[in-house]
Amino acid sequence: MADFKNKVVYQIYPKSFCDSNGDGEGDLKGITSKLDYLQDLGVDLLWSTPFFPSPQRDNGYDVSDYCAVDPRFGTMEDLEELIAEADKRGIGLMFDMVFNHTSTQHEWFQKALSGDKKYQDYYIFKDGTPDKIPTNWVSKFGGPAWEYVPGLGKWYLHLFDVTQADLNWENPEVREELKNVLRFWKAKGIKGFRFDVVNLISKPEVYENDYIGDGRRFYTDGHHVHGFLKELVADAEIGDMVTVGEMSSTSLDNCIRYTAPKEKELTMCFSFHHLKVDYKDGDKWSLMKPDLRKLKELFTTWQEGMQAQDGWNALFWCNHDQPRAVSRFGDEGKYWVESAKMLASAIHLMRGTPYIYQGEELGMTNHHYTSIDQYRDVESLNYYQILLDKGKTSEEALEILAARSRDNGRTPMQWDDSHAAGFTTGTPWLAPPENYHRINAKAQMEDAASVRAFYKKLVALRKELAVISEGKIAFILRDDPQVLAYRRYTDNAQMLVLCNLTGENAEVTLPESWEKANILLTNWSRDTIRDKMTLKPYECLALLK
Ligand code: GLC
Repeated sequence: MADFKNKVVYQIYPKSFCDSNGDGEGDLKGITSKLDYLQDLGVDLLWSTPFFPSPQRDNGYDVSDYCAVDPRFGTMEDLEELIAEADKRGIGLMFDMVFNHTSTQHEWFQKALSGDKKYQDYYIFKDGTPDKIPTNWVSKFGGPAWEYVPGLGKWYLHLFDVTQADLNWENPEVREELKNVLRFWKAKGIKGFRFDVVNLISKPEVYENDYIGDGRRFYTDGHHVHGFLKELVADAEIGDMVTVGEMSSTSLDNCIRYTAPKEKELTMCFSFHHLKVDYKDGDKWSLMKPDLRKLKELFTTWQEGMQAQDGWNALFWCNHDQPRAVSRFGDEGKYWVESAKMLASAIHLMRGTPYIYQGEELGMTNHHYTSIDQYRDVESLNYYQILLDKGKTSEEALEILAARSRDNGRTPMQWDDSHAAGFTTGTPWLAPPENYHRINAKAQMEDAASVRAFYKKLVALRKELAVISEGKIAFILRDDPQVLAYRRYTDNAQMLVLCNLTGENAEVTLPESWEKANILLTNWSRDTIRDKMTLKPYECLALLK
């Protein structure tokens, strides 16, 4: 297994990172031009979301060729240059493997449509008539999970968009094709892979209706998933690379199996339970304030649970599918800086591998769009219609989208306060929030007290202190309604982390004497520690002894 415990990953969404040719969309040369910025931040690995040929129905997660570069992002030479330039700066690349499904434009699916039996077996086709859908499962993007192809007299499964057809992993030829994709990219010198919704790849033997849910219980962490992953990793010889699986609606027990080194599956995984604590009744499209007790409980269960059986978490608040953390869990106004820093330390000092999503290190916020024309994301557009159909007014639907849309995380990176936040000289494909005049990389690079400077410090601390990268974790103050608190420890060092998750003062009583401990990090100025003390709004404090 690669040495990864002191490393930090930075996630790039290429379409929104940096546009080098003025067409309004980011590209590979744009990424290369910002490598110095990333090296300065200190990150070790860059995970780029897909830049492979794609009709872009789901912004590249609908891949039509796994081993090429979409011309909209550049050329294979541009990609090789990016890999080489990153390597010179000690930065490795991780590519995003979307192996649960392909675009319906992929050659395999096209051959299947033209009647080729071999390729029909690459997907999940079911014979039938148009009036009888195979199951009542619901697609993750809304609507039925099956589409009928009249010319074939068959239905095909799509857990996501109708243009994203699920692959049939039971077919050994499919698995072989996918191993070849990994071999191809490994040979290009990349250092790791992220596997998209990889816990959905194993479908059930029998397809049946779900009368209590949307169908996910039949294919989530499915019966062959661990075997498939073991085979993929062993045969493609990627066991020594950094691998992360995106796990949708998964369980702790499965994540232990996905990541415990003895299982030889993946290095770590993303789970999303902590990002559902503001879903009313579990529904993403129903708003409520984050349930902080639940959040604390989930961190405790996942951190201590993974530790107990040698699992490893990916630590994150943000990605290209999530609204911005500072808007969601922090404060965009008075305590913007403090809350952005507190959220960073809350996860960066935990046990696991931290991920920084582009712009998070600047405290970038949600976009605050007010019209449906400003949105681009397929899920947001689908759900806007679904919300209207359910009887919401367009104002209500827009308020929900403003809080929940994936486009919140996809607005252009805010480089400076010039035209379009310095992202492009043209018209950006998605408009940046107005606040780029104030919140941008240029301003923060010049400010030692900036959110970015704080992130940089956190990245550096993980390399300096084994208690952060290797230490054990135990949560304390478990019943405190405001403060997330944990202890990290090795044989030689102890660290205490306190994060006030709220905009109110919080009284804390430390469990044992920490008065003489050193202050390692704080987002407010503080020089004395008492066993009983008041934490300021969104204050975070890391103590070392
Ligand atoms: C993952 C990706 C998301 C994509 C989906 C389908 O959840 O992160 O962006 O839409 O998979 O591939």
